[in-house]
Amino acid sequence: MKRGKDYIVFALDVSSAGEAEKYVKILNGKVGMFKIGLELFIKMGPDIIRRVKNLTDAGIFLDLKLHDISETVKRAMEQVAQLGVDLVTVHLSSSPKMLEMAVQGAAKSYGEKGVSQFNCCSDVSVSKSMDSQLGVLGVTLLTDHDASVIESCGFRDIYVQDIQALVMKRAEIAYFAGCRGVVCSGQEVQLIKAKFGKEFLAVTPGIRPVWSIDKEILDKSDDQKRITTPSMAVKAGADLIVVGRPIKRAKDPALAAEKIADEIEMNFSVI
Ligand code: C5P
Repeated sequence: MKRGKDYIVFALDVSSAGEAEKYVKILNGKVGMFKIGLELFIKMGPDIIRRVKNLTDAGIFLDLKLHDISETVKRAMEQVAQLGVDLVTVHLSSSPKMLEMAVQGAAKSYGEKGVSQFNCCSDVSVSKSMDSQLGVLGVTLLTDHDASVIESCGFRDIYVQDIQALVMKRAEIAYFAGCRGVVCSGQEVQLIKAKFGKEFLAVTPGIRPVWSIDKEILDKSDDQKRITTPSMAVKAGADLIVVGRPIKRAKDPALAAEKIADEIEMNFSVI
């Protein structure tokens, strides 16, 4: 049965293997997945995946946010499929063809190393067995983008005035391309789940527990704009929540993860 901790994806936004391993040891058993992003992957390469897997049975989410010509992305995905990770991201700002080819590349079967024990929740399996495939998630719109960013990027007025319309348009492209789900803010989860169903994963970053909302957020210097609390995101239907700084910056990161898991469980009686 899915527990509160299983919703939490901790973002390993660090630049060394030592630091990453420190957080994996501290948070092992307290979160459901670890997210390896560009900073750590560029610094350490694929070896960091083996090192993290040596320390935990939690799932691995490789947040590469790929965006290139379709053939290049497909070939990159074929390589990612050999790494034994559970989820990988592509940007949805590209063409439907790029997304389809990303999914095709990811469908290349895992090698022996790639067996994952990770189970995201009771009814939606992210990746489980030798036969399972790497799940491609499309990034709808970065959670540090608000209407002013959309406008400065030259989007049509309809999308400047209604960011959700842009997110839904991109989620639809991801759905029809065969993506496992999308990364979206907590503000769009409900709409996405209602339209595309519970099997289509909604992964939500921009999470700020109430106790982590500090001066940085209140004076708007926090880079995340479209934020939600853990319980708001899960209540809206998020399958996974990505949490970085609220755990990383906490005096006691393990306790911070436990508080988030408790908040989820208290609100939704998931156990
Ligand atoms: O909780 P915090 O803001 O530190 O989490 C930031 C993490 O979430 C980063 O790893 C970032 O890449 C990721 N992310 C995001 N917005 C998205 C997709 C991923 O902030 N749309």
